[in-house]
Amino acid sequence: MTKELINKKEIYFPSYSGSNDNLNSLLNKTSQIICNWFSNSEKYGPLPIDEEFKFLMPSENGNSTEDLFSEIEDLISNSFNPVHPGSLAHLDPPPLILSILGDLIAAGLNNNLLAYELSPSLTNLEESLFKWFSKKIGFGDYSGGIAASGGTLSNLNALIAARDHAGLSSDPDAVFLISDEAHTSFLKCAKIMGLHENNLIKVRTDNEGCMDLICLKNKISECSKKNKKIFSIVATLGTTIRGAIDPIKGISEICKNNNIWLHIDGSIGGIYSITNIQINGLNNINYADSITINPQKILGITKTSSLLLVSNIETLKKTFSTGLPYISSNNNFLDRGELGIQGSRPAEVIKLWLGLRFLGIKGIEDILKSSIDRKVFFEKNLSSEKYEIYTGPLHIISFLPKGISIKDSNSWTKLNRIKLLKNNFMLSRPEFNGKYFLRAVMGNYNTSESHIRDLIKILNSI
Ligand SMILES: Cc1ncc(COP(=O)(O)O)c(C=O)c1O
Repeated sequence: MTKELINKKEIYFPSYSGSNDNLNSLLNKTSQIICNWFSNSEKYGPLPIDEEFKFLMPSENGNSTEDLFSEIEDLISNSFNPVHPGSLAHLDPPPLILSILGDLIAAGLNNNLLAYELSPSLTNLEESLFKWFSKKIGFGDYSGGIAASGGTLSNLNALIAARDHAGLSSDPDAVFLISDEAHTSFLKCAKIMGLHENNLIKVRTDNEGCMDLICLKNKISECSKKNKKIFSIVATLGTTIRGAIDPIKGISEICKNNNIWLHIDGSIGGIYSITNIQINGLNNINYADSITINPQKILGITKTSSLLLVSNIETLKKTFSTGLPYISSNNNFLDRGELGIQGSRPAEVIKLWLGLRFLGIKGIEDILKSSIDRKVFFEKNLSSEKYEIYTGPLHIISFLPKGISIKDSNSWTKLNRIKLLKNNFMLSRPEFNGKYFLRAVMGNYNTSESHIRDLIKILNSI
């Protein structure tokens, strides 16, 4: 091999025998830039100032790492900053430190969760960790699960398995039921599954945002009269607008009596079920056939980290397995690409495993409990004379001025979101039942009581 070729190789990829000094120094430099960004975040707001920021596109001859580092700094400084204590808009908390390491390790290993032979230790890890999760929530010996890139995909994996299990995969009239406060990902699921919007039946919620059981029974009777077969009822464990929890026990009894698959969308609240934290309505989740849990949304496991747990792993295998004719399988392990929609998949399990190993149940409880404590403190201090407040037992709270019209809710939230941003607080502006709200998601561990006091001072005076 010529010298030129050898040098080139060391620039592109890690060396299999050399010192990898170049890679080492680039990693150090990168981690320095990221740490500086974290350390300086208080000086800037949650959102970048330069909205005109433009990227350069790849050039003919490539660019030096010096060029690229200046671009990396621009990229980072123009990003949303989840570490800033005023970042309270969405379910996007600061990244857990051990999770950042997990992502780096996953990138370095570049293993593929498609198949055992491409990720031997990691296939074992994902299978074991998901079994651990399943047991923790009370599932039995046949349980297990599969990771997916986000809650939308986990919900989709569940619904496809539910429809297959019911033998309704080619029935265009097959329906599933959700509450009218369930997440929009279910509409996306219906579209992907080739179902019409009408096949997604919405059940009314009560004043607390929880599925109304009488309405659910009525909808089931209507479906039966119209000969529409139901393949799943979805209970939401933590709604997007106010963190409400559907009556899981009641829904599970209805599912059992009607032989219908119960899926729980626990994208937000599911993670609480592996802890000893007492939460109203968080019980009987082991009655479900499947549950989505998204550790990325509150624990700070870096994106993406979503799990679908099922009471019987065979249901996933039966639904998704095609055989992988180009893979040499191992009899002791299922190839993970056979258990869900995704084929090639990164080892997202590393950041989840490292994060949970580091925290332990006590650390997990600390993060989750502190989120609710912050919400309770916020709620206590937000003027209940001025605001109509919507919140459940979790860490999400939405509000708007009492008696405001639909039209004025639009302009009021727009104006005040900007005002809050100028004061370095980022809240979201969800639309619900035609009205706009301001929403605070209290999952940011860096947000202290004094930050919340400052935020309340602004909100109570506008
Ligand atoms: C209750 C609920 N389910 C599902 C999702 C979709 O999750 P993802 O954005 O990870 O796909 C969300 C997103 O916020 C959600 O709030």
